[in-house]
Amino acid sequence: MPRSRWPAGPEAAPGAPPDEGRRRLLRLAAGAGALAALPGWARPQATAPRPQEGRMQTRSTPRTGEPLPVIGLGTWQAFDVGASEAERAPRREVLRLLFAAGGRLVDSSPMYGRAEAVVGDLLRGRPEQRTAYVATKVWTTGRAEGEAQMAESERRMGGRLDLVQVHNLQDWKTHLPTLRAWKRAGRIRHVGITHYALSALGELEQIVRREEIDFVQLPYSAGVREAEARLLPACQERGAAVIVMRPFEQGDLLRRLRGRPLPGWATEGGAASWAQLLLQFILSHPAVTVAIPATSKPEHMEDNARAGALPPLTAEARKRLLAEL
Ligand SMILES: NC(=O)c1ccc[n+]([C@@H]2O[C@H](COP(=O)([O-])OP(=O)(O)OC[C@H]3O[C@@H](n4cnc5c(N)ncnc54)[C@H](OP(=O)(O)O)[C@@H]3O)[C@@H](O)[C@H]2O)c1
Repeated sequence: MPRSRWPAGPEAAPGAPPDEGRRRLLRLAAGAGALAALPGWARPQATAPRPQEGRMQTRSTPRTGEPLPVIGLGTWQAFDVGASEAERAPRREVLRLLFAAGGRLVDSSPMYGRAEAVVGDLLRGRPEQRTAYVATKVWTTGRAEGEAQMAESERRMGGRLDLVQVHNLQDWKTHLPTLRAWKRAGRIRHVGITHYALSALGELEQIVRREEIDFVQLPYSAGVREAEARLLPACQERGAAVIVMRPFEQGDLLRRLRGRPLPGWATEGGAASWAQLLLQFILSHPAVTVAIPATSKPEHMEDNARAGALPPLTAEARKRLLAEL
């Protein structure tokens, strides 16, 4: 796999020429300045430590201050598989690589078939189970049904849930009080809402403005930027952490770019693949906490995880990527 070129400077890889290291740091500083100069864009709310070679960055969840690594793992389709070793082995390796790269967040849902149970099985008894940030959803109607479903998710995913999100806002007025009660009781740590549809962004915004929401999971990518207008700023203003779903538009964005060489300005900024560049774009939005690309392939997990160690794209690079698309 290609290695990230970023950054040099005080923590530079041994042997990096000092001048090149300084130039890279200056480019990084210029990039951060350009980002801050954009209207509506503030410095990242997150604690974004200076990127270190190969080390995944973390960002704090605004309400609780918990640092979360910026690349997580989605499990829709990718983890909906049976019990055979041929199906389980690559997913076990995907999880191993996520954690080895410094990642923690795994996102699932009772809607994703066997995915919750597969994640639970693959983590059970492993050291990663202790550090994993386990996120799932409640996707049903009614208080008792919601509680029963969450208890089942908890059992499937290894006995512990960090975050439960109301899936597609289904019966959210019923589920939010339950989630808050579970949080007060220490049974979950964070409360979230999510919807995949662009037509639901307005409702997500209204809820985030009125209610105390720890996490909003929303669609955002270099090709689908509607959340930039109102929802992402609302999350920033209200202190809600943001999980970005569908960073590759279910893989469509990468299929469109397949065979096209990565432009020189992108490799200059540290990306070694289109996947990394697309994730870098998402993570350069100051409201974003973590992106959760789904994959069943270890080499893709490794590729995606490397994006977590890259600096934000400059405003100029963001424009160039949009022009490329
Ligand atoms: N809240 C909601 O309503 C909602 C809705 C949709 C999704 N989600 C969450 O968001 C997650 C991500 O969204 P998504 O699964 O729809 O789509 P996505 O992450 O945008 O794209 C996944 C696709 O990209 C491919 N891929 C991943 N990394 C790659 C790489 N480095 N190079 C080439 N191909 C790569 C995967 O195939 P391979 O397996 O071959 O790598 C897969 O086909 C979901 O899994 C789920 O957890 C939530």
